Amino acid sequence: MTMKDELRSSVVVVGASRGIGRAIAKVAAREHNVVVLVARSPEGLAAAAVDVQQAGGEAFTLELDLISADASARLEAFLTANDLVCGVLVNSAGYGLRGAATLLPVNDQLGIIDLNIRALADMTLRFLPGMLARGRGGVINLGSVAGLVPGPYMALYYASKGFVRSFSDALHQEVYRFGVTVTCVAPGPVSTEFLERSGANRTALFKILPTLDAEYVAERAWSGFKSGHRRVVPGISAKLITLVAALLPTATILPLIGRLQRRSKDPCPADAQGILP
Ligand SMILES: NC(=O)c1ccc[n+]([C@@H]2O[C@H](COP(=O)([O-])OP(=O)(O)OC[C@H]3O[C@@H](n4cnc5c(N)ncnc54)[C@H](OP(=O)(O)O)[C@@H]3O)[C@@H](O)[C@H]2O)c1
Repeated sequence: MTMKDELRSSVVVVGASRGIGRAIAKVAAREHNVVVLVARSPEGLAAAAVDVQQAGGEAFTLELDLISADASARLEAFLTANDLVCGVLVNSAGYGLRGAATLLPVNDQLGIIDLNIRALADMTLRFLPGMLARGRGGVINLGSVAGLVPGPYMALYYASKGFVRSFSDALHQEVYRFGVTVTCVAPGPVSTEFLERSGANRTALFKILPTLDAEYVAERAWSGFKSGHRRVVPGISAKLITLVAALLPTATILPLIGRLQRRSKDPCPADAQGILP
């Protein structure tokens, strides 16, 4: 038996301390997988580890700030130290910010690129070659219906999810023939802390859209991935949004989203400063 045969395959969930990532970890654990939980919050990771164990899996936790340049190298070193390989990677860490792009703090907006784009691409590109060599496994990337259109007043968030969609689709095409799947999950609003933290829950758009449970999204994501699907759009409302986004021209969608994300009882900085009409 070679060294490589002794390594165990694991499901690595990045952004596992709460929300959709934590729910996917639990679903994966039901199949008695080894689940590696990655995030910054030690309390959240400990709670997610209990979930995983109760669901029948084996849990490892790693406190890691994905913004750090060596994050994927540190994760790989952690796996190697525990005789694990990344069989399935779930990229669920991400954040958004609502407000006029010209008024939101620039560094906070650039952080969206660092986390939603750079860290996701770094993790994917680090672990995908191993999956290809083994001829199995794959990546679940959390995109969003926001990735289908430009999003005034959440400009960088929508753009980051456009990247996730494009990158994931392209990689899927490159690797599916070799037994490896790259799935982009594109839900509408999901009831997690994300909505409050990003401010998205204070927009008219998110108020008119139904909100899904993280558990439902996790079930759809996992079963879609296991079926080899390139794209998973959980729920009827997200499917409808996807259809509308495909049918309507950008010139129609842009002012519509702009209006729905700007109007709110809790104004954007631009509203507060009287800059917007
Ligand atoms: N909720 C929605 O309405 C919705 C809809 C569509 C798509 N999505 C996407 O789905 C994904 C998951 O969202 P969610 O709703 O589950 O969000 P959430 O509840 O806010 O969870 C985000 C996760 O990312 C981790 N994270 C954030 N910054 C990190 C960093 N610098 N380093 C390491 N981990 C970090 C958080 O853990 P720590 O804070 O402990 O580090 C947490 O585990 C995101 O990509 C989001 O854009 C969400």
